[in-house]
Amino acid sequence: MQLPDHNIHTSVARPSMHFTPASGWINDPNGLIFYAGEYHLFYQHHPAATVWGPMHWGHAVSRDLVHWEELPIALAPDDIGAIFSGSAVLDRNNTAGFGADAMVAIFTHDTNKPDQKQAQSLAYSLDRGRTWTKYSGNPVLLPPVGQKNFRDPKVFWSDNGQQAHWVMALAVATEIWFYRSANLKEWTMCSRFGADFGSHSGVWECPELIQLALEGTDERHWVLIVSVGNGAPAGGSGVQYFVGQFDGATFTPHEAPSQTRWADYGADFYAPQAWNDAPDGRKLWLAWMNNWSYGNQIPDSGGWRGAMTMMRELSLRRDGQALVLIQRPVRELAGFHGQHQHWTMRQIDKAEIPIDLPLSSAQAETAPCQSIHVVFRVAASTTAQRFGLLLRGPSGESVEIGYNIALSRLSVNRRTAGSGLSGFANPHHAALSPRDDKIALQILIDRTSIEIFADDGQLVMTEQVFLNPMVKSLALFAEDGFVEVESLDCFQLGLH
Ligand code: FRU
Repeated sequence: MQLPDHNIHTSVARPSMHFTPASGWINDPNGLIFYAGEYHLFYQHHPAATVWGPMHWGHAVSRDLVHWEELPIALAPDDIGAIFSGSAVLDRNNTAGFGADAMVAIFTHDTNKPDQKQAQSLAYSLDRGRTWTKYSGNPVLLPPVGQKNFRDPKVFWSDNGQQAHWVMALAVATEIWFYRSANLKEWTMCSRFGADFGSHSGVWECPELIQLALEGTDERHWVLIVSVGNGAPAGGSGVQYFVGQFDGATFTPHEAPSQTRWADYGADFYAPQAWNDAPDGRKLWLAWMNNWSYGNQIPDSGGWRGAMTMMRELSLRRDGQALVLIQRPVRELAGFHGQHQHWTMRQIDKAEIPIDLPLSSAQAETAPCQSIHVVFRVAASTTAQRFGLLLRGPSGESVEIGYNIALSRLSVNRRTAGSGLSGFANPHHAALSPRDDKIALQILIDRTSIEIFADDGQLVMTEQVFLNPMVKSLALFAEDGFVEVESLDCFQLGLH
């Protein structure tokens, strides 16, 4: 079938299960903290336009990890500058003197001072993040003179048994610098990481440092996550990570400097941050679901632009010698499963086999979210060279999720699904080997995105897709032979 090369939608419907702002522009998640039953999501926000501009911290809360309630703006630009990215902590011991259980935001002030452009500042809230007071002694941490990129503080309480203090991970040009403090106001530099490590094809931004459990063991390892402004596997901005140890002052990676690992192989996952103080020690995060290479040009839907990913739970898995990051959609999402369709084993040996999902346009509008779980069996007898899924929009345009056996590679091709944006039409690839002769995918579909979790969370691809409506029908395909589909489950997600 001849498909149109370009299918540009100038306006799209609002995603149903992903956070979007009521109006204006958003980018990075900021200040993620759980407190008094609420998951707080602050975020980079330009309320006056649908493109990046003078940055504020917008604010939303969730109690169920799926629905978000937007609250009034938390932090607005002031005499010192605009409010760039940062984090939030609960100051249980009142170390800063702002009051018992103060919620303290540590953020970057982006100023007009040419020599000391970016500096770290504080604000606090004594009413569950509803209203904020900026600290009169701002800024609390100035950059070395001449250093223009000095931003995005991630702060958390570190207690290794011998020493307890606040730790700040800060992005400085293409390194991460670590500081410590007893009171959030005075900071001492401890160490720097990164000069020869990982990808340096863009500026380093938005560090995150968390301790994750190694599945199936009692071991825990530290993971340093760094967003890189350019040069990621799918083009443009992306997120790399390093697994290692952290002693409260210094991060020491387990792997060689040349080893670069990426958190997501899709185009639209940036600046993730994990929640401080999440209940039960859970490690949860989300990211801005966009890419700086086209972020300001994606369809602008009646006064807002930008979305966050779904919340994901993190852990580590051993893969050969390496420890690798695992991300799964939060289990709470299963509580929203609605209508369920299940297919058992069948052979696919055609260019396209429509699955009896087909959603009418009306259904696609009212029930736009699905969670699709598919398991392909890749045995010695499999003759197909490539196989996968096609999500089809109303005019035949599609997104292809394909697996190439010879290349051991998962690919996403959104060539006909809202291209026209720079780099949008390029296919994205990621290495993936069958596990126990199976390729297992979970795909979360919302109105403007797909999030693919392969191999039980070991490989993730997050992609914006602009079909309108998102999915009219689903098809399976196999090329040059057959493949067995062991199971296919489609859950409607009943979100409102
Ligand atoms: C990352 C980033 C941060 C900065 C913020 C500004 O996307 O560039 O480094 O603080 O966005 O909005």
